[in-house]
Amino acid sequence: MNENPLYILAIESSCDDTAAAVLENAKVLSNVVARQAIHEEYGGVVPELASRAHQQNIVPVIDVALKKANIDRSQLNAIAFTQGPGLMGSLLVGSSFAKSMALALGVPLIAVNHMQAHILAHFIDEEGFEKPTFPFLGMTISGGHTQIVKVNDYFDMEVIGETTDDAVGEAFDKSAKILGLPYPGGPLIDKYAQQGNPKAFPFTKPKVPGLDFSFSGLKTQILYFVQKNVAENPDFIQENLNDICASIQHTIINILMDKLKLAVKETGIKQIAIGGGVSANSGIRNTLMEARKKYGWKCFIPKFEYTTDNAAMIGIVGYHKYRQQLFNDASVVSKARIPL
Ligand code: KG4
Ligand code: ZN
Repeated sequence: MNENPLYILAIESSCDDTAAAVLENAKVLSNVVARQAIHEEYGGVVPELASRAHQQNIVPVIDVALKKANIDRSQLNAIAFTQGPGLMGSLLVGSSFAKSMALALGVPLIAVNHMQAHILAHFIDEEGFEKPTFPFLGMTISGGHTQIVKVNDYFDMEVIGETTDDAVGEAFDKSAKILGLPYPGGPLIDKYAQQGNPKAFPFTKPKVPGLDFSFSGLKTQILYFVQKNVAENPDFIQENLNDICASIQHTIINILMDKLKLAVKETGIKQIAIGGGVSANSGIRNTLMEARKKYGWKCFIPKFEYTTDNAAMIGIVGYHKYRQQLFNDASVVSKARIPL
């Protein structure tokens, strides 16, 4: 499209981050995220508190996104928002705002699937980042999701594997909690793991058939392991924190890699694109870098700000839906669960 640029305002409010972004075609002009620190003291996201914080944050966040992009709302061509999946109360704040704004401006409304967005984030124009070509395998790994997806086209995706219990981010966060680390513990496990020996404490991997995942057994295994050792030595955690974290991370990465290898074998597709907060993990990034050489895979790791929940990824889906004239009317409803 080389005629008039398309300006899209995107809103994301599916969980505990209130986010807004402005895109000019596939380029991000602004990408603003207000994180909700309130959940830290509860050790996890409290849905009721999340909806309230969204209500407080949404107007200032959108304001800042427009200002940073240097775009007046009269220039906007469409409003994109997260329809689901996510927490209902949180989703409703974003969708109600998006509907009102689209109606007030007289521009199209575009409902976006959050999981599609984590995958299509790879199509944001970003210097130094190559885009995958269809078909490719998407792996979304975050606090809420763990899926392997066969991506045939922008809006033709097929979930070929997913978690049967906890998401991989939960496995990190719950393990961290067992070790007495604050929420969210994933980044802390990553940090300590970098100084530790990944083979110090071997944990067993769950036996799950096919491409599905399970992480709840690992969590229980870690809990018993820590309880047993702390009973023998109360300083066990402090004395071995780096090694415990490295061993947990190593096991989780092995679980993910086993399934990816199987997915490549079953589909014959060697392009892997990851997304979701856990793709920030340095161990996963390094392992995928090695896989490029080791298995001849082409691996795509998005820019950090597009991996965790953000609105730029909602905007890029909005852009591609706009190009296909896939609009919604004001009767569109938020959905806590939504297929890909
Ligand atoms: O995508 P995201 O921001 O929100 C969800 O949709 O869940 O992902 C958050 C998750 C949390 O579980 C957090 O602990 C995890 O991503 N995470 C990490 C790292 N950074 C964030 N897990 C492991 N290593 C990291 N470096
Ligand atoms: Zn997400």
